Amino acid sequence: MIQLVDVSRTVTSGVGQLTILKPTTLTIARGQSVAITGASGSGKSTLLGLVAGLDSPSAGRILLDGDDITALDEDRLARLRGAKVGIVFQFFHLIPSLTALENVMVPMEIAGRTDARARGQALIDEVGLNGRGHHYPSQLSGGEQQRVALARALANDPPILLADEPTGNLDSATGQQVIDLLLDVNQRHGRTLVLVTHDLELAARADRIIRLKDGHVVNDVVRAEAG
Ligand SMILES: Nc1ncnc2c1ncn2[C@@H]1O[C@H](COP(=O)(O)OP(=O)(O)O)[C@@H](O)[C@H]1O
Ligand SMILES: [Mg+2]
Repeated sequence: MIQLVDVSRTVTSGVGQLTILKPTTLTIARGQSVAITGASGSGKSTLLGLVAGLDSPSAGRILLDGDDITALDEDRLARLRGAKVGIVFQFFHLIPSLTALENVMVPMEIAGRTDARARGQALIDEVGLNGRGHHYPSQLSGGEQQRVALARALANDPPILLADEPTGNLDSATGQQVIDLLLDVNQRHGRTLVLVTHDLELAARADRIIRLKDGHVVNDVVRAEAG
């Protein structure tokens, strides 16, 4: 479960103080899939970065399964983030000098898991890249690279999966496949999924759609058939 309580973020820019996320309170239940939509600059990545613990709020509290991440020091936050959150970005962010399998192994090695290679192989298979583990990112298509990034995000079996415009750099058919995979991982494993996208057709596949405008939540709709 993700809880934001009066969370806001203000940054100092050339023109002075700018509140890029207005005070926001919301709860995302465990296992829910949520699409965050809104125009470019509306605060989608800001919101996701706060939930991921990559940025800190200027005010308010953020709880992941009851743990207040805003109260943690850097080390504890890094550990909690490693255990609870997997993230996928628009531009994949794979390490170019490592193979697909090695990229997937990185978070498990950081966590000190001894089964990194075997589990990495299983994850490569799970995302539909059977036999491609030894390829370098440059030898893979965009859709394949995003699958590797997803496998890496799942490496430590996080209950929360965050994706920031994961299809933004893919053609629409490939994007659909990546969304299929994200929703499958959400549904089959009961992982909470927060998906930033400005593609409304993709957003409509989530249980819930939250729309941001100028750093405000302006719409928050749960799909009728969603549980
Ligand atoms: N560190 C920062 N300093 C100044 N402005 C920022 C910073 N991060 C984001 N912004 C601004 O905040 C607004 C929201 O950004 P962002 O969350 O990236 O929007 P989105 O992901 O919806 O496109 C934008 O106007 C952006 O330029
Ligand atoms: Mg963004």
